[in-house]
Amino acid sequence: MRVSVRASSLRPSPTLWLYRLVGVLKSRGLDYYSLHVGQPGFTPPRDLMVRFLEVVSSRVSDLSLYSYTSPWGLLELREAIALDLAQHGRVRADPLGEVVVTSGGIEGLLSTLASILDPGDPVGFIVPAYFHFYSIARLLGLRVVELPVYPELELKADPLVDLFSRVKAVVIANPDNPTGRVLDEGVARLIADLACDRGVYVVHDIAYYTLRYEAGMAWPENYCRDYIVTVGTYSKDPGVPGWRVGFIVAPADVAEAVAHVREATSYNTPVPSQILILEYLRGGYRAGFLPRVLEEYSRRRSALIEALEEELPKAYYYKPKAGIFVYVNLEGYTRMASDKLVERLALEDRVLAVPGTLFGPGGESWLRLSFAVEGPERLREAVRIIARRVRGVV
Ligand SMILES: Cc1ncc(COP(=O)(O)O)c(C=O)c1O
Repeated sequence: MRVSVRASSLRPSPTLWLYRLVGVLKSRGLDYYSLHVGQPGFTPPRDLMVRFLEVVSSRVSDLSLYSYTSPWGLLELREAIALDLAQHGRVRADPLGEVVVTSGGIEGLLSTLASILDPGDPVGFIVPAYFHFYSIARLLGLRVVELPVYPELELKADPLVDLFSRVKAVVIANPDNPTGRVLDEGVARLIADLACDRGVYVVHDIAYYTLRYEAGMAWPENYCRDYIVTVGTYSKDPGVPGWRVGFIVAPADVAEAVAHVREATSYNTPVPSQILILEYLRGGYRAGFLPRVLEEYSRRRSALIEALEEELPKAYYYKPKAGIFVYVNLEGYTRMASDKLVERLALEDRVLAVPGTLFGPGGESWLRLSFAVEGPERLREAVRIIARRVRGVV
């Protein structure tokens, strides 16, 4: 074998073939419905980009624009991140020793898990779980312990207590992908107590922390600091996934380990990307941008949900409180496996969706539908097409 067992254990994400298909459809000028997309459907605020270009052009002869930064990231950016988390989650962090800028959320998760776990260590996932959790676990040789929450998709106390007794770390997306679930205060408190009492790390992935429609979300960090690592990204808000900026906030020893891992891998996040996010956070751009985006996402979420109610009344779905997805079970209509259904929808109906099987065992009759990109009317049309398809298959 020419590549390592580790590398060959990484299966290419099934979304890759969807993206290839998109390329083909585009090149043929064919229309398709993008309900597979995991990235925002809006460009970042225009005035932010204008400001960013001004800053960069004022520094073209400044060597620091082209230099390495510390693997921890620019200190000013770390200060802005710490302030943002204090405002959003009442999470207090020392920008000097507890905040590290990362190249997006995935890299933050990888560097964190590489810093707190060794090969063979057990790591807990709540299933369905964001698919990159699995790839990172494979890459690091971790042993995944799964806590399935199908079919209701709610977190319950006893299974959580059991999970924490079996692992060294638990990774929790809050808000969650694919479900859009957020932690309530009681569950966050329980998770925090389990972490601190048992010395089990919680990797708290807050990728969608500002994209919330209903309730606020609870932060386990408010009850336990020593064993919680917060992992965030700017891929969703302001929506620059290709610019690769995220962060981790962790107790000092873990943050230092993360910085060392980064030094050995990507070293630092590209300077222009760090500058953009620094301007976003400290320039107050979010205040004018996010409410507009949330209003539009909220309209899309309602349209998608109403269409599911009308067209597929026997479908079970989790009403997302946050994020950009609706996770839906079509067992009441078809026994076709979600991979197969996704393939048929894509190739025959040009409706693109993500199969539940991507999020771990148990997702066979589930689809993840994104409302990030298509407007309300197109979302309704897409659901009508899905309904026609699942009613017509056995
Ligand atoms: C739950 C969750 N965590 C992390 C990420 C990764 O974000 P990034 O693009 O910044 O690596 C995503 C992106 O989809 C996500 O949904």
